[in-house]
Amino acid sequence: MSVSSPLPHDAARLHVTGQARYIDDIPTPKRTLHLAFGLSQIARGRITSMDLGAVRAAPGVVAVLTADDLPFANDVSPSVHDEPLLSDGHVHYIGQPIFLVVADSHGAARRAARRGEIAYEEDTPILTIDEALAADNRFEEGPRIYARGDAAAARAAAPHQIEGMLDLGGQEHFYLEGQAALALPQEGGDMLVHSSTQHPTEIQHKVAEALGVPMHGVRVETRRMGGGFGGKESQGNALAVSCAVAARLTGKPCKMRYDRDDDMVITGKRHDFRITYRAGFDDAGRVLGIEFVQLARCGWAQDLSLPVADRAMLHADNAYWLPDIRIESHRLKTNTQSATAYRGFGGPQGMVGIERVMDHVAHVLDLDPVEVRRRNYYDAPAGGAAPHTPRDISEQKKDNCTPYGQEVEDFELWEMTEALLASSDYAARKKAVAEWNAANPVIKKGLAFSPVKFGISFTLTHLNQAGALVHVYQDGSIHLNHGGTEMGQGLFQKVAQVAARRFGVGLEAVKITATDTAKVPNTSATAASSGSDLNGMAVKAACDTIRGRMAEFLAERHQVTPEDVRFEGGRVQVGAAGMSFAEAAQLCYEGRISLSATGFYKTPKLAWDRIKGEGRPFFYFAYGAALTEVALDTLTGENRILRADILHDAGASLNPALDKGQVEGGYVQGAGWLTCEELVWDDTGRLRTHAPSTYKIPAFSDQPGAFNVALWDGKNREDTIYRSKAVGEPPFMLGISAFLALSDAVAACGSEYPALDAPATPERLLAAVQRLRDGV
Ligand code: MTE
Ligand code: MOS
Repeated sequence: MSVSSPLPHDAARLHVTGQARYIDDIPTPKRTLHLAFGLSQIARGRITSMDLGAVRAAPGVVAVLTADDLPFANDVSPSVHDEPLLSDGHVHYIGQPIFLVVADSHGAARRAARRGEIAYEEDTPILTIDEALAADNRFEEGPRIYARGDAAAARAAAPHQIEGMLDLGGQEHFYLEGQAALALPQEGGDMLVHSSTQHPTEIQHKVAEALGVPMHGVRVETRRMGGGFGGKESQGNALAVSCAVAARLTGKPCKMRYDRDDDMVITGKRHDFRITYRAGFDDAGRVLGIEFVQLARCGWAQDLSLPVADRAMLHADNAYWLPDIRIESHRLKTNTQSATAYRGFGGPQGMVGIERVMDHVAHVLDLDPVEVRRRNYYDAPAGGAAPHTPRDISEQKKDNCTPYGQEVEDFELWEMTEALLASSDYAARKKAVAEWNAANPVIKKGLAFSPVKFGISFTLTHLNQAGALVHVYQDGSIHLNHGGTEMGQGLFQKVAQVAARRFGVGLEAVKITATDTAKVPNTSATAASSGSDLNGMAVKAACDTIRGRMAEFLAERHQVTPEDVRFEGGRVQVGAAGMSFAEAAQLCYEGRISLSATGFYKTPKLAWDRIKGEGRPFFYFAYGAALTEVALDTLTGENRILRADILHDAGASLNPALDKGQVEGGYVQGAGWLTCEELVWDDTGRLRTHAPSTYKIPAFSDQPGAFNVALWDGKNREDTIYRSKAVGEPPFMLGISAFLALSDAVAACGSEYPALDAPATPERLLAAVQRLRDGV
C-alpha cells in the first residue's frame, strides 16, 4: 500500500447510497427540540418594540429567547466580538437573527418564527460599495496599502497606459448540506455538540463562552460536511451556540438546521469586489507600473474580512513580476450579510484584477494574450529548461520576489504553460477560432488561457499548526484522528493513506474517525487548502513515534538494530525474522510498549508582517494553467464551455484521483462564480436570489463539453508530506479562463475592449455585444 494511489473517496459508497451520515441524519433521542430564528425584515435600524406573544402561543413552541435571555456571551463572531447571536436592539441586515424559537418540530419552529411582531425605527441602509465609500463606512481605518517602487511614476513614464474598472459579484457557497448543529446535554452541565463545521475548535470556543464554562466542558464532533467551501469556517457558530444554549435551558437535545432560503438569507457569502486599475506598459506588453484599488464589500460584521482582503492583495500579482506596484485595499462595511471565507479566500478576486489587465494590454497592442502573460511571468528557477524572455528595461531590478518580498523559488509555469499549449493544440485552435468568427456572424467563439500561482499557508501565521492522535490496537488495527475536517475534499482518505504507508499496512487496517475536540485540541479551521499539508504531517509524526517504539522493542528482541526493522506489505521485517503487523502489535502490547501517540506539526519558514505587507506569508506556491474555449450566441447571450484543458500542480500528489476531482470541481465552481451565479439585492437590501430557482449554480450539463484535466508531474521543493502540494483552492481560479474566453468571444463583435463585469450572465454578455456592435 503506498501513498499516491488514485483511491476513491473513503466514503464514496456511503455518499452515493445515501448512507453517509450528516448532522440531520444522526439518530436523536426522543423529545429532541428544534430551533429556528426570527429574522430582521429591515436592513438597518433599531428595534423599538417586540411582541412575541403569537410566537409563544404557536403550536409546538417550548420557548422563545431574545438577547436578554442569553445567560452569558451574546457573541458568535470569529474575530472582533461584533456579531451578536441575537440582535442587541440594533439591526444590520435583512435576515439578521433577532429571536430564537425552540419547538417540538422543525416545522413548528419555522412557522412560529414568522409570527413575531417587531417594530423598528429605520435608518437608511448602506448597501453598495459606492454608498459605503461615500459614508466612509469601513473596517480598519483608511485603506491598507502594499507597495513596491513608485508605481505612479513608472506608469506615467511607460510608453502605453490603460485604465479600467471591473465589478466582481459575490457567490453563494451552496454546500449541498446546509448549516446544521445538534447539541446533547451531558451530566454536570457538559455539552456535546455535533456541528457541520470546518472549525470544531471555534465551535467549542464559542459554545463554551455562551454557556459560561471552560472549553473542557464542551466537546465538538464533526464526522463530515456535505460541502463547506469556506462557508462553514465561521457561519456555523450561530447554530451551534443556539443549540447549546437552548439545550442548557431546557435540558433536552436541541437541533437546528437552516432551510435553504434561510441559509442563503442569513449566512455570509464571497465578498463582491470592485477593482480599478491603472497600468503602464512597454511595446512588448510588459507591465512597468501598476496601481490597483480593491474595494471589498464586507457586509455588516468583520468576520474574516480582513484576512480575505489581505489575500486579495497578496494575489494581485498572480503569476507576474510587476516591478513597480501599488495595491490599495478598502474593507467596506455594508448592511448586508457578513461576507465570509469562500474557496480562494480573496485570492480569486485579486487574481481576476491582474488577469483583466493582461487581457487588456494584449488587446491594446494586438498581441497574443498568452504571449503577453509569458513576457510578464516570474523567472523560472535557475537551471530549469524553461524558455525565458529577458526583461531588458528593468532586468537589473528583477529579484523574482513578489510585491510583498517573498522570493518565487519554483516558478513552474514556464514549463506548465508550454506543456498545456502543446497538449491543447493552442496555436491551431486559436487560428480556427479566428476563422470561425470571421465566417459566423451570430455564434462567436472565444479562447482564453489563464495561469494560477496561489500562496499556501494561513496568513495568520499561528494557525499553521496541527495535531493528531493515533492508536494501534493489539490486533494491528489503527485508529486515526487528526484536527482536520472532511467536507468532500478527500482529506481523510489522503491522511489515512499516509498512516497506512507509515505502518506499511493496507488501508483497511486504518479506521478513519470523526474529528473530535476531545481527541485533538486547539485545531485550526480546515481551510487555506492546508488540511493535508498540516494534518498529514501531524499524523506522520504520531505514526513515526509509535513505529519507533515498536522498532526499538522488536529490534532488541531479535538482537538487531532498530534500523533493521522495516514496515511494509502488511508485515514487519525484523532482521531475518518476519511477522505480520498484527503479530508485531500483539508482541509490543505484551511487551508493555505504548501503542498510542500524539503528533504535532507547524509549518516552517513563515514570517509575515501584515501591516507592512512584507515577509514570507506562504510556505510555497501551487500552480495551474487552463485554456478554455466557449461559444456565445450573440443574439441571446447564451453560452457554453466547449472545451477546457487544465494542467495543475499538486506536487507529488497524495491521491491523483481525489486531486483531479478537486481540480475539476474547483474549475467549475470558479467558472460558475464568474459566469452564471448572480446574487441580487433589491434597493431595500433584501436578497432576492435565495433559492436555486433564482440563483443558478453550474449543473452537470454546464461542465465543459470536453474536459481534459491532468496533473503536472512534479514534486514540492519544500519538505511537505511526501512532497505533495495543497490542492483544495488553487484550481478554483482556473475558472478565470472561462470568463476571459467569454470576453474573447464578445471581442469578436467589434474593436473595443469588452471590459466585462462578472458574473458574465447572458444579460451582461448581450449588453456587451451590443456595446461593441454599436461601437461605443
Ligand atoms: N472540496 C469539496 N468537495 N468540498 C468542499 O467544501 N472546500 C474547499 C476545498 N475543496 C471544499 C472542497 C476549500 S474552501 C478548502 S480551503 C479546502 O477544500 C479545504 O480542504 P483541504 O485543506 O483539505 O484541501
Ligand atoms: Mo477555504 S475558503 O480556506 O475554507
